[in-house]
Amino acid sequence: MTLDVSERTESVAALEVEGLEYAYPDGTQALHGINLRVEPGEKVALVGPNGSGKSTLLLNLNGIYRAQRGDITVFGERLEERTLGSIRAKVGLLFSNPDDQLFSPTVLEDVAYGPLHMGLPRDEVLARAREALAAVGMQEFESRAPHHLSLGQKKRVAIASVLSMGTPLLALDEPTANLDPRSRRELIELLDRLRLTIIVATHDLALVGDILPRTVVLDGGRVVADRPSRDVLTDSALLFEHGLEPLSMHGHPHA
Ligand SMILES: Nc1ncnc2c1ncn2[C@@H]1O[C@H](COP(=O)(O)OP(=O)(O)OP(=O)(O)O)[C@@H](O)[C@H]1O
Ligand SMILES: [Mg+2]
Repeated sequence: MTLDVSERTESVAALEVEGLEYAYPDGTQALHGINLRVEPGEKVALVGPNGSGKSTLLLNLNGIYRAQRGDITVFGERLEERTLGSIRAKVGLLFSNPDDQLFSPTVLEDVAYGPLHMGLPRDEVLARAREALAAVGMQEFESRAPHHLSLGQKKRVAIASVLSMGTPLLALDEPTANLDPRSRRELIELLDRLRLTIIVATHDLALVGDILPRTVVLDGGRVVADRPSRDVLTDSALLFEHGLEPLSMHGHPHA
């Protein structure tokens, strides 16, 4: 399967973040010395209250934002100006807002954009794009203009545009936001099947409990917990302290 291109190298971390400090141009210090190591094939949740730095961290992972201090290493390659292209071929980033991701005249062109610019042959590009669209149930929409889709449909196309690149590391910012229950369930099953390294920033703790064995809790731009998800999800004190709530209080969307 073309979507499944994990480069399993046991000795090298999939992701190593060391002492990462990031301040926005207006001076807002969003990340205060983040340390995080993710092994190949791990599936990690990034949770925490609004403004805790989840999106900022993900946007640093493929160099869209450039930290003032600290290092990011992806499958053994350090992120720097010179390696940006190569790092971006390894880290597929889903933006939390699909309008930031979609820019082509048609859905198919958007999903084909990544593989096309990786220099793949046209047949392979089309095959990958269509496979990715099918994976999110959007194959019927390939000729539509992305900006004429509903928010949930845009999200699914944005996910397809990340999957089509075949990157070994997926960094997904709120992938289930705005999805209807069936699309959400299908996406969760898809992410569960993918043999890739996956980091998911989310407020969807049921998703975390279902398919992400490890949870990193961010608050105020710092990692305040990094433990097995089953521990975090049952630690009410920790959850409440960081603006989260035990699952029993959400009502189970898939009960
Ligand atoms: N463009 C920006 N300029 C200045 N500060 C910003 C900008 N974007 C985000 N911030 C600030 O950076 C901090 C981290 O924001 P970030 O978007 O990473 O949080 P988050 O954990 O993704 O939150 P959410 O759950 O709402 O998505 C917050 O204090 C936020 O106000
Ligand atoms: Mg965010």
